[in-house]
Amino acid sequence: MSEKQTILVQLDTDPLPSVFDRVVAVDSGVGHLFGYGGVTPGNVTPLVHGCIFTRGPKDLHRTAIFVGGSDVAAGEAVVAAVRAALNPFTVSVLLDSNGANTTAAAAVRAASRHLDLASAASLVLGATGPVGQRVVRLLAAHGGHVRVGSRDRAKAEVVCAAVRARVPGAKLEAVGVASAADGPAALAGRTLVVAAGAAGAVLLPKKIRDTAKGLKVAIDLNGVPPAGIEGVELFDAGADRDGTICYGAIGVGNTKMKVHRAAVAKLFTASNLVLDAEEVYALAREMP
Ligand SMILES: NC(=O)c1ccc[n+]([C@@H]2O[C@H](COP(=O)([O-])OP(=O)(O)OC[C@H]3O[C@@H](n4cnc5c(N)ncnc54)[C@H](OP(=O)(O)O)[C@@H]3O)[C@@H](O)[C@H]2O)c1
Repeated sequence: MSEKQTILVQLDTDPLPSVFDRVVAVDSGVGHLFGYGGVTPGNVTPLVHGCIFTRGPKDLHRTAIFVGGSDVAAGEAVVAAVRAALNPFTVSVLLDSNGANTTAAAAVRAASRHLDLASAASLVLGATGPVGQRVVRLLAAHGGHVRVGSRDRAKAEVVCAAVRARVPGAKLEAVGVASAADGPAALAGRTLVVAAGAAGAVLLPKKIRDTAKGLKVAIDLNGVPPAGIEGVELFDAGADRDGTICYGAIGVGNTKMKVHRAAVAKLFTASNLVLDAEEVYALAREMP
């Protein structure tokens, strides 16, 4: 008998499963897509059992789970519950709520094309959001020094503590960037800035960026005008602007889409994978 078709079970924490994630699943070559909305740790176990008690162990790598939705913390809670329910058999699982893992992986991949991230000095603005936190985590794992920016320094401290728990020895510094006046000190000595602020929020005006003489790479993830880093264009993908290499949201987004598709395809190579930020970034690093 021919090999069984692949099935991706989309577990979304929002009431309506994400169309974006469904389109990417189809474009990743998934054979069948089963979508469920309103998924919580409390209702996920029967869905997981449907995955593991149907096909025999030798075919379980042809079934996989994608956890998505707009709330990353809710997605993380569902992944924990999925893992607890994957017993005695397992299928592979990918977490990409809010696109946080694939976006952060693509952003750090972009930076790595131009900088040695083991020695880079970075500033992440909007670092308390789900994307920013993962950017911090991935940069810290490379070994460079990372300033963790928030309008509220205390919130940045919380992110630093969470990342240190995952990345022992992480070189992190919380900085409060409540207004443009705080920008020059936060940027001083930085070679990389990543803006991961909320859609439409300007985090770095041009006149502040111009104070950072050693800045080599600027990455803006905000795709909703005005730009998060003034002067970085949406489609920038390594554009040289006044001596700084720039990436805009779509410039990063193209890689993000490839990483997302690669991560879905990876799920069907084994039955025991759990793809979170680090594993997704490993796929991004394989890309040119
Ligand atoms: N390019 C892509 O492919 C792609 C994919 C997914 C997401 N994105 C974009 O990536 C960015 C980050 O996503 P996210 O979901 O992590 O963002 P988010 O949670 O909406 O916001 C991130 C942080 O921005 C800060 N912030 C919120 N409102 C602000 C304001 N008015 N002014 C200044 N700062 C503000 C907050 O930090 P503090 O309160 O700590 O200051 C917040 O934690 C967004 O712009 C999103 O649209 C891009």
